[in-house]
Amino acid sequence: MNEIPRPNNLDAFWMPYSDNRFFKGTPRMLARAKGMHYTTTDGREILDGTAGLWCCNAGHGRTEIVEAIQRQAEVMDFAPTFQLGHPIAFEAAARVAEMTPDGMDRVFFTNSGSESADTALKIALAYHKARGESSRVRLIGRERGYHGVGFGGMSVGGIGGNRKQFGALLPYVDHLPHTHGLPENVFQKGQPEHGAHLADALENLVALHGAETIAAVMVEPVAGSTGVLVPPKGYLERLRQICTKYGILLIFDEVITGFGRIGTPFGCERLGVTPDIITMAKGLTNAAVPMGAVAVANFIYDDVVNNSPAGIELFHGYTYSGHPLAAAAAIAAIDIHAKEDLPGRVREIEPYWQAAAHSMKSAPGVIDIRDYGLIAGIELAPRAGKPGARAMDVFRKCFDDGLLVRVTGDIVALSPPLIIEKPHVDRIFETLDTALRAIAA
Ligand SMILES: Cc1ncc(COP(=O)(O)O)c(C=O)c1O
Repeated sequence: MNEIPRPNNLDAFWMPYSDNRFFKGTPRMLARAKGMHYTTTDGREILDGTAGLWCCNAGHGRTEIVEAIQRQAEVMDFAPTFQLGHPIAFEAAARVAEMTPDGMDRVFFTNSGSESADTALKIALAYHKARGESSRVRLIGRERGYHGVGFGGMSVGGIGGNRKQFGALLPYVDHLPHTHGLPENVFQKGQPEHGAHLADALENLVALHGAETIAAVMVEPVAGSTGVLVPPKGYLERLRQICTKYGILLIFDEVITGFGRIGTPFGCERLGVTPDIITMAKGLTNAAVPMGAVAVANFIYDDVVNNSPAGIELFHGYTYSGHPLAAAAAIAAIDIHAKEDLPGRVREIEPYWQAAAHSMKSAPGVIDIRDYGLIAGIELAPRAGKPGARAMDVFRKCFDDGLLVRVTGDIVALSPPLIIEKPHVDRIFETLDTALRAIAA
Protein backbone atom coordinates (compact mmCIF):
# COMPACT_ATOMS: atom_id res chain seq x y z
CA MET A 1 0.00 0.00 0.00
CA ASN A 2 1.24 3.53 -0.79
CA GLU A 3 2.49 5.71 1.99
CA ILE A 4 -0.30 7.62 3.77
CA PRO A 5 -0.19 11.27 2.65
CA ARG A 6 0.13 14.00 5.29
CA PRO A 7 -0.23 17.73 4.70
CA ASN A 8 2.60 19.94 5.90
CA ASN A 9 0.52 23.10 6.11
CA LEU A 10 -3.03 23.45 7.41
CA ASP A 11 -3.35 27.19 6.91
CA ALA A 12 -4.85 27.54 3.43
CA PHE A 13 -7.96 25.37 3.71
CA TRP A 14 -10.82 27.35 5.34
CA MET A 15 -12.73 24.35 6.60
CA PRO A 16 -16.52 24.29 6.22
CA TYR A 17 -18.79 24.10 9.28
CA SER A 18 -15.71 23.70 11.46
CA ASP A 19 -14.01 25.14 14.48
CA ASN A 20 -10.93 25.96 12.39
CA ARG A 21 -8.88 27.17 15.35
CA PHE A 22 -9.52 24.02 17.38
CA PHE A 23 -9.03 21.65 14.45
CA LYS A 24 -5.78 23.19 13.32
CA GLY A 25 -4.48 22.92 16.89
CA THR A 26 -5.37 19.24 17.23
CA PRO A 27 -6.05 17.87 13.74
CA ARG A 28 -7.94 14.62 13.22
CA MET A 29 -7.15 13.52 9.70
CA LEU A 30 -8.65 10.75 7.59
CA ALA A 31 -6.52 9.35 4.80
CA ARG A 32 -8.19 6.19 3.48
CA ALA A 33 -11.56 4.49 3.46
CA LYS A 34 -12.79 0.98 2.72
CA GLY A 35 -16.04 -0.74 3.62
CA MET A 36 -17.12 0.27 7.13
CA HIS A 37 -13.84 1.97 8.07
CA TYR A 38 -11.64 4.99 7.65
CA THR A 39 -7.91 4.99 8.34
CA THR A 40 -6.31 8.06 9.87
CA THR A 41 -3.05 9.62 8.69
CA ASP A 42 -1.38 8.01 11.70
CA GLY A 43 -2.65 4.60 10.63
CA ARG A 44 -5.53 4.08 13.09
CA GLU A 45 -8.75 2.39 11.95
CA ILE A 46 -11.96 4.35 12.60
CA LEU A 47 -15.37 2.67 12.39
CA ASP A 48 -17.65 4.91 10.34
CA GLY A 49 -20.82 5.52 12.35
CA THR A 50 -22.03 8.23 9.98
CA ALA A 51 -21.45 6.96 6.41
CA GLY A 52 -19.17 9.96 5.98
CA LEU A 53 -21.86 12.60 6.23
CA TRP A 54 -24.92 10.39 5.70
CA CYS A 55 -23.71 9.59 2.20
CA CYS A 56 -21.58 6.46 1.68
CA ASN A 57 -24.58 4.15 2.02
CA ALA A 58 -22.98 1.23 0.17
CA GLY A 59 -19.79 1.48 2.24
CA HIS A 60 -16.51 3.08 1.21
CA GLY A 61 -14.29 2.44 -1.77
CA ARG A 62 -16.72 0.34 -3.78
CA THR A 63 -14.75 -1.13 -6.67
CA GLU A 64 -17.76 -1.08 -9.02
CA ILE A 65 -18.14 2.68 -8.54
CA VAL A 66 -14.41 3.40 -8.74
CA GLU A 67 -14.14 1.46 -12.02
CA ALA A 68 -17.23 3.12 -13.51
CA ILE A 69 -15.72 6.55 -12.81
CA GLN A 70 -12.35 5.50 -14.25
CA ARG A 71 -13.95 4.10 -17.43
CA GLN A 72 -16.05 7.21 -17.97
CA ALA A 73 -13.08 9.55 -17.37
CA GLU A 74 -11.28 7.83 -20.22
CA VAL A 75 -14.26 7.87 -22.60
CA MET A 76 -15.39 11.46 -22.01
CA ASP A 77 -14.33 13.61 -19.08
CA PHE A 78 -16.90 16.36 -19.49
CA ALA A 79 -19.58 17.56 -21.84
CA PRO A 80 -22.11 20.35 -21.31
CA THR A 81 -25.81 19.60 -20.92
CA PHE A 82 -27.00 23.04 -22.02
CA GLN A 83 -28.63 22.44 -25.44
CA LEU A 84 -26.51 19.28 -25.79
CA GLY A 85 -26.68 15.83 -24.27
CA HIS A 86 -24.63 12.76 -23.53
CA PRO A 87 -26.10 9.28 -23.15
CA ILE A 88 -24.94 8.52 -19.62
CA ALA A 89 -26.75 11.55 -18.14
CA PHE A 90 -30.05 10.36 -19.67
CA GLU A 91 -29.38 6.85 -18.44
CA ALA A 92 -28.67 8.08 -14.90
CA ALA A 93 -31.90 10.12 -14.89
CA ALA A 94 -33.91 7.11 -16.06
CA ARG A 95 -32.35 4.96 -13.32
CA VAL A 96 -33.24 7.54 -10.67
CA ALA A 97 -36.79 7.76 -12.06
CA GLU A 98 -37.14 3.98 -11.66
CA MET A 99 -36.53 4.40 -7.92
CA THR A 100 -38.87 7.35 -7.30
CA PRO A 101 -42.64 6.95 -6.80
CA ASP A 102 -44.80 6.27 -9.88
CA GLY A 103 -45.63 9.41 -11.82
CA MET A 104 -42.46 11.16 -10.63
CA ASP A 105 -40.28 10.44 -13.62
CA ARG A 106 -38.56 13.72 -14.48
CA VAL A 107 -35.13 14.36 -12.98
CA PHE A 108 -33.05 17.57 -12.87
CA PHE A 109 -29.38 17.12 -11.93
CA THR A 110 -27.45 19.32 -9.51
CA ASN A 111 -24.16 18.89 -7.63
CA SER A 112 -25.27 18.88 -3.99
CA GLY A 113 -28.14 18.84 -1.57
CA SER A 114 -28.05 22.61 -1.28
CA GLU A 115 -28.37 23.04 -5.03
CA SER A 116 -31.16 20.48 -5.06
CA ALA A 117 -33.08 22.47 -2.45
CA ASP A 118 -32.74 25.75 -4.34
CA THR A 119 -33.59 24.02 -7.62
CA ALA A 120 -36.75 22.50 -6.13
CA LEU A 121 -37.90 25.88 -4.81
CA LYS A 122 -37.27 27.51 -8.19
CA ILE A 123 -39.14 24.74 -10.00
CA ALA A 124 -42.11 25.23 -7.64
CA LEU A 125 -42.19 28.95 -8.44
CA ALA A 126 -41.82 28.32 -12.18
CA TYR A 127 -44.63 25.75 -12.07
CA HIS A 128 -47.17 28.13 -10.58
CA LYS A 129 -46.12 30.91 -12.93
CA ALA A 130 -46.49 28.59 -15.93
CA ARG A 131 -50.04 27.85 -14.81
CA GLY A 132 -50.91 31.52 -14.54
CA GLU A 133 -50.74 31.64 -10.72
CA SER A 134 -47.90 34.13 -10.41
CA SER A 135 -49.15 35.23 -7.00
CA ARG A 136 -47.91 31.96 -5.51
CA VAL A 137 -44.47 33.14 -4.42
CA ARG A 138 -44.45 32.23 -0.73
CA LEU A 139 -42.28 29.33 0.43
CA ILE A 140 -42.97 27.48 3.66
CA GLY A 141 -40.33 25.55 5.59
CA ARG A 142 -40.22 24.28 9.14
CA GLU A 143 -38.38 25.31 12.28
CA ARG A 144 -35.22 23.21 12.72
CA GLY A 145 -35.36 22.19 9.04
CA TYR A 146 -32.09 21.89 7.12
CA HIS A 147 -32.04 22.33 3.37
CA GLY A 148 -28.41 23.25 2.83
CA VAL A 149 -26.68 26.55 2.56
CA GLY A 150 -27.90 28.26 -0.61
CA PHE A 151 -30.06 31.32 -0.05
CA GLY A 152 -33.24 29.38 -0.86
CA GLY A 153 -32.56 26.39 1.36
CA MET A 154 -31.14 28.57 4.12
CA SER A 155 -34.20 30.83 4.12
CA VAL A 156 -36.69 27.98 4.12
CA GLY A 157 -34.50 26.10 6.60
CA GLY A 158 -35.13 26.71 10.25
CA ILE A 159 -31.84 26.36 12.09
CA GLY A 160 -31.06 29.72 13.67
CA GLY A 161 -27.30 29.28 13.70
CA ASN A 162 -27.24 28.77 9.93
CA ARG A 163 -29.16 31.98 9.24
CA LYS A 164 -28.08 34.62 11.73
CA GLN A 165 -24.79 35.61 10.04
CA PHE A 166 -26.35 36.23 6.65
CA GLY A 167 -28.66 39.19 6.69
CA ALA A 168 -32.21 39.40 5.46
CA LEU A 169 -32.43 36.12 3.48
CA LEU A 170 -35.34 35.55 1.05
CA PRO A 171 -38.58 37.47 1.50
CA TYR A 172 -41.99 35.73 1.54
CA VAL A 173 -40.89 32.77 3.62
CA ASP A 174 -42.68 31.36 6.65
CA HIS A 175 -42.16 28.36 8.88
CA LEU A 176 -44.22 25.58 10.41
CA PRO A 177 -43.44 24.66 14.02
CA HIS A 178 -40.97 21.81 14.51
CA THR A 179 -42.13 18.51 15.91
CA HIS A 180 -39.49 18.16 18.64
CA GLY A 181 -39.76 18.04 22.39
CA LEU A 182 -43.27 16.73 23.07
CA PRO A 183 -42.82 15.16 26.51
CA GLU A 184 -45.07 12.22 25.55
CA ASN A 185 -42.63 11.23 22.80
CA VAL A 186 -39.44 10.98 24.88
CA PHE A 187 -37.57 7.66 24.34
CA GLN A 188 -40.21 6.45 21.87
CA LYS A 189 -39.04 3.94 19.31
CA GLY A 190 -39.63 4.59 15.62
CA GLN A 191 -42.36 7.05 14.72
CA PRO A 192 -43.68 8.86 17.80
CA GLU A 193 -47.38 8.63 18.62
CA HIS A 194 -47.97 12.30 19.34
CA GLY A 195 -47.74 15.42 17.23
CA ALA A 196 -49.82 14.91 14.06
CA HIS A 197 -51.76 18.04 15.01
CA LEU A 198 -48.65 20.17 14.47
CA ALA A 199 -49.25 19.87 10.71
CA ASP A 200 -52.45 21.87 11.18
CA ALA A 201 -50.26 24.95 11.59
CA LEU A 202 -50.21 24.95 7.78
CA GLU A 203 -53.93 25.79 7.91
CA ASN A 204 -53.02 28.80 10.07
CA LEU A 205 -50.41 29.96 7.53
CA VAL A 206 -52.98 29.59 4.77
CA ALA A 207 -55.43 31.68 6.80
CA LEU A 208 -52.70 34.26 7.47
CA HIS A 209 -51.24 34.62 3.98
CA GLY A 210 -53.90 33.20 1.64
CA ALA A 211 -53.39 29.95 -0.26
CA GLU A 212 -53.14 31.95 -3.47
CA THR A 213 -49.77 33.29 -2.25
CA ILE A 214 -48.21 29.95 -1.24
CA ALA A 215 -46.12 28.00 -3.76
CA ALA A 216 -44.68 25.13 -1.76
CA VAL A 217 -43.98 23.53 1.58
CA MET A 218 -40.58 21.92 2.02
CA VAL A 219 -39.75 19.50 4.85
CA GLU A 220 -37.37 16.65 5.53
CA PRO A 221 -39.46 13.49 6.04
CA VAL A 222 -37.02 12.59 8.84
CA ALA A 223 -35.01 15.65 9.86
CA GLY A 224 -31.35 14.74 10.24
CA SER A 225 -29.04 17.71 10.67
CA THR A 226 -31.09 19.19 13.47
CA GLY A 227 -30.63 16.01 15.48
CA VAL A 228 -32.87 13.23 14.16
CA LEU A 229 -36.52 14.24 14.38
CA VAL A 230 -38.80 11.40 13.31
CA PRO A 231 -42.20 12.50 12.00
CA PRO A 232 -45.07 11.78 14.40
CA LYS A 233 -47.58 9.23 13.12
CA GLY A 234 -50.12 10.95 10.87
CA TYR A 235 -48.14 14.22 10.61
CA LEU A 236 -46.89 13.91 7.03
CA GLU A 237 -50.26 12.56 5.94
CA ARG A 238 -51.91 15.72 7.26
CA LEU A 239 -49.38 17.98 5.59
CA ARG A 240 -50.09 16.14 2.33
CA GLN A 241 -53.86 16.57 2.74
CA ILE A 242 -53.60 20.29 3.43
CA CYS A 243 -51.20 20.89 0.52
CA THR A 244 -53.52 19.03 -1.85
CA LYS A 245 -56.55 20.92 -0.55
CA TYR A 246 -54.95 24.30 -1.36
CA GLY A 247 -52.93 23.50 -4.50
CA ILE A 248 -49.62 23.88 -2.64
CA LEU A 249 -46.71 21.72 -3.82
CA LEU A 250 -45.21 19.41 -1.20
CA ILE A 251 -41.43 19.00 -1.41
CA PHE A 252 -39.66 16.28 0.55
CA ASP A 253 -35.98 16.91 1.09
CA GLU A 254 -34.69 13.34 0.91
CA VAL A 255 -31.00 14.22 0.84
CA ILE A 256 -30.46 11.88 3.79
CA THR A 257 -33.54 9.64 3.65
CA GLY A 258 -33.05 8.76 -0.03
CA PHE A 259 -31.21 5.69 -1.22
CA GLY A 260 -32.27 3.17 1.36
CA ARG A 261 -31.49 4.92 4.65
CA ILE A 262 -34.91 4.16 6.20
CA GLY A 263 -35.56 0.82 4.52
CA THR A 264 -37.10 1.81 1.18
CA PRO A 265 -35.46 3.41 -1.88
CA PHE A 266 -36.89 6.78 -0.85
CA GLY A 267 -38.24 7.59 2.57
CA CYS A 268 -41.64 8.66 1.27
CA GLU A 269 -42.36 5.07 0.32
CA ARG A 270 -41.96 3.74 3.85
CA LEU A 271 -43.75 6.72 5.34
CA GLY A 272 -46.67 6.22 2.94
CA VAL A 273 -46.88 9.84 1.76
CA THR A 274 -46.06 10.89 -1.78
CA PRO A 275 -44.75 14.42 -2.27
CA ASP A 276 -44.77 16.34 -5.57
CA ILE A 277 -41.02 16.93 -5.61
CA ILE A 278 -38.13 15.00 -4.04
CA THR A 279 -34.65 16.46 -3.54
CA MET A 280 -31.70 14.11 -3.21
CA ALA A 281 -27.87 14.02 -3.22
CA LYS A 282 -25.36 12.13 -1.02
CA GLY A 283 -26.27 8.43 -1.50
CA LEU A 284 -27.05 9.06 -5.16
CA THR A 285 -23.40 8.47 -6.11
CA ASN A 286 -22.41 6.93 -2.77
CA ALA A 287 -20.62 10.30 -2.47
CA ALA A 288 -17.80 9.16 -4.76
CA VAL A 289 -18.46 12.17 -7.04
CA PRO A 290 -20.60 15.11 -5.94
CA MET A 291 -24.10 14.94 -7.43
CA GLY A 292 -27.60 15.92 -6.45
CA ALA A 293 -30.94 15.63 -8.19
CA VAL A 294 -34.53 16.82 -8.04
CA ALA A 295 -37.26 14.42 -9.11
CA VAL A 296 -40.56 16.05 -9.99
CA ALA A 297 -44.06 14.75 -10.67
CA ASN A 298 -44.65 14.49 -14.39
CA PHE A 299 -47.43 17.10 -14.26
CA ILE A 300 -44.94 19.69 -13.00
CA TYR A 301 -42.54 19.08 -15.86
CA ASP A 302 -45.41 19.03 -18.36
CA ASP A 303 -46.89 22.28 -17.10
CA VAL A 304 -43.57 24.13 -17.11
CA VAL A 305 -42.44 22.78 -20.47
CA ASN A 306 -45.73 22.90 -22.35
CA ASN A 307 -46.85 26.31 -21.11
CA SER A 308 -43.61 28.05 -21.96
CA PRO A 309 -43.00 29.95 -25.17
CA ALA A 310 -40.71 28.17 -27.63
CA GLY A 311 -37.10 28.09 -26.40
CA ILE A 312 -35.61 27.44 -23.00
CA GLU A 313 -38.39 26.50 -20.58
CA LEU A 314 -36.56 26.73 -17.26
CA PHE A 315 -33.82 29.33 -16.88
CA HIS A 316 -31.83 27.28 -14.42
CA GLY A 317 -28.97 24.79 -14.52
CA TYR A 318 -25.40 24.13 -13.49
CA THR A 319 -22.32 23.65 -15.66
CA TYR A 320 -22.01 20.24 -14.05
CA SER A 321 -25.69 19.15 -14.21
CA GLY A 322 -25.46 15.52 -15.32
CA HIS A 323 -21.63 15.50 -15.23
CA PRO A 324 -20.45 12.29 -16.95
CA LEU A 325 -18.33 11.06 -14.02
CA ALA A 326 -21.13 11.71 -11.54
CA ALA A 327 -23.64 10.00 -13.84
CA ALA A 328 -21.35 6.96 -14.08
CA ALA A 329 -20.99 6.86 -10.30
CA ALA A 330 -24.76 7.19 -9.83
CA ILE A 331 -25.54 4.31 -12.17
CA ALA A 332 -22.96 2.09 -10.46
CA ALA A 333 -24.28 3.04 -7.01
CA ILE A 334 -27.88 2.36 -8.04
CA ASP A 335 -26.78 -1.04 -9.40
CA ILE A 336 -25.28 -1.89 -6.00
CA HIS A 337 -28.49 -0.81 -4.26
CA ALA A 338 -30.51 -3.18 -6.40
CA LYS A 339 -28.05 -6.08 -6.40
CA GLU A 340 -27.42 -6.00 -2.67
CA ASP A 341 -30.93 -4.87 -1.71
CA LEU A 342 -29.59 -2.21 0.63
CA PRO A 343 -33.07 -1.06 1.71
CA GLY A 344 -33.86 -4.70 2.58
CA ARG A 345 -30.68 -4.92 4.66
CA VAL A 346 -31.83 -1.87 6.60
CA ARG A 347 -35.19 -3.43 7.37
CA GLU A 348 -33.47 -6.63 8.48
CA ILE A 349 -31.02 -5.04 10.89
CA GLU A 350 -33.31 -2.24 12.10
CA PRO A 351 -34.73 -4.08 15.15
CA TYR A 352 -31.20 -4.91 16.34
CA TRP A 353 -30.06 -1.34 15.69
CA GLN A 354 -33.09 0.07 17.48
CA ALA A 355 -32.59 -2.13 20.54
CA ALA A 356 -28.89 -1.24 20.68
CA ALA A 357 -29.62 2.49 20.37
CA HIS A 358 -32.23 2.42 23.10
CA SER A 359 -29.89 0.47 25.40
CA MET A 360 -28.08 3.82 25.81
CA LYS A 361 -30.98 5.09 27.94
CA SER A 362 -29.11 4.38 31.16
CA ALA A 363 -25.85 6.05 30.05
CA PRO A 364 -24.99 9.28 31.90
CA GLY A 365 -26.46 12.48 30.49
CA VAL A 366 -28.85 10.84 28.01
CA ILE A 367 -32.25 12.59 27.98
CA ASP A 368 -33.84 11.19 24.81
CA ILE A 369 -33.24 8.60 22.10
CA ARG A 370 -34.86 8.59 18.66
CA ASP A 371 -34.45 6.13 15.79
CA TYR A 372 -35.83 5.26 12.40
CA GLY A 373 -34.39 2.97 9.74
CA LEU A 374 -30.61 3.08 10.14
CA ILE A 375 -30.63 6.41 11.95
CA ALA A 376 -30.34 7.12 15.65
CA GLY A 377 -30.22 10.33 17.64
CA ILE A 378 -28.98 10.29 21.24
CA GLU A 379 -29.82 13.57 22.94
CA LEU A 380 -27.69 14.68 25.88
CA ALA A 381 -28.39 17.13 28.66
CA PRO A 382 -26.43 20.30 27.85
CA ARG A 383 -23.83 21.39 30.38
CA ALA A 384 -24.90 24.54 32.23
CA GLY A 385 -23.97 27.58 30.15
CA LYS A 386 -22.09 25.46 27.57
CA PRO A 387 -24.49 24.18 24.91
CA GLY A 388 -22.92 21.57 22.63
CA ALA A 389 -19.85 21.06 24.83
CA ARG A 390 -20.86 17.64 26.17
CA ALA A 391 -21.58 16.24 22.71
CA MET A 392 -18.33 17.67 21.35
CA ASP A 393 -16.42 15.87 24.10
CA VAL A 394 -18.23 12.67 23.10
CA PHE A 395 -17.25 13.21 19.47
CA ARG A 396 -13.59 13.64 20.38
CA LYS A 397 -13.48 10.70 22.81
CA CYS A 398 -15.22 8.40 20.30
CA PHE A 399 -12.80 9.42 17.55
CA ASP A 400 -9.83 8.76 19.80
CA ASP A 401 -11.36 5.35 20.61
CA GLY A 402 -11.84 4.49 16.92
CA LEU A 403 -15.43 5.54 16.14
CA LEU A 404 -16.74 8.38 13.98
CA VAL A 405 -19.99 9.91 15.23
CA ARG A 406 -21.64 13.19 14.24
CA VAL A 407 -22.81 15.75 16.74
CA THR A 408 -25.19 18.61 16.30
CA GLY A 409 -25.79 20.75 19.38
CA ASP A 410 -25.98 18.22 22.20
CA ILE A 411 -27.30 15.43 20.01
CA VAL A 412 -25.19 12.54 18.77
CA ALA A 413 -26.48 11.47 15.34
CA LEU A 414 -25.65 8.04 13.93
CA SER A 415 -26.18 6.95 10.32
CA PRO A 416 -23.74 4.18 9.40
CA PRO A 417 -23.27 2.66 5.94
CA LEU A 418 -26.19 0.36 5.14
CA ILE A 419 -23.81 -2.63 4.79
CA ILE A 420 -23.32 -2.61 8.57
CA GLU A 421 -23.22 -5.97 10.42
CA LYS A 422 -24.28 -6.71 13.99
CA PRO A 423 -20.71 -6.69 15.43
CA HIS A 424 -20.28 -3.14 14.06
CA VAL A 425 -23.53 -2.11 15.75
CA ASP A 426 -22.23 -3.54 19.02
CA ARG A 427 -18.95 -1.65 18.64
CA ILE A 428 -20.69 1.64 17.91
CA PHE A 429 -22.82 1.59 21.03
CA GLU A 430 -20.13 0.11 23.31
CA THR A 431 -17.73 2.87 22.27
CA LEU A 432 -20.40 5.53 22.71
CA ASP A 433 -21.33 4.17 26.14
CA THR A 434 -17.68 4.24 27.20
CA ALA A 435 -17.34 7.81 25.95
CA LEU A 436 -20.45 9.00 27.79
CA ARG A 437 -19.22 7.44 31.03
CA ALA A 438 -15.68 8.78 30.57
CA ILE A 439 -16.72 12.36 29.96
CA ALA A 440 -19.25 12.28 32.81
CA ALA A 441 -16.55 11.20 35.22
C1 LIG B 1 -31.83 17.27 4.38
C2 LIG B 1 -30.63 17.95 3.78
N1 LIG B 1 -30.80 18.81 2.79
C3 LIG B 1 -29.76 19.44 2.20
C4 LIG B 1 -28.47 19.19 2.63
C5 LIG B 1 -27.32 19.92 2.00
O1 LIG B 1 -26.57 19.07 1.24
P1 LIG B 1 -25.12 19.55 0.72
O2 LIG B 1 -24.26 19.66 1.93
O3 LIG B 1 -24.72 18.44 -0.22
O4 LIG B 1 -25.30 20.83 0.02
C6 LIG B 1 -28.26 18.29 3.67
C7 LIG B 1 -26.89 18.01 4.16
O5 LIG B 1 -26.67 17.39 5.16
C8 LIG B 1 -29.36 17.66 4.27
O6 LIG B 1 -29.21 16.81 5.30
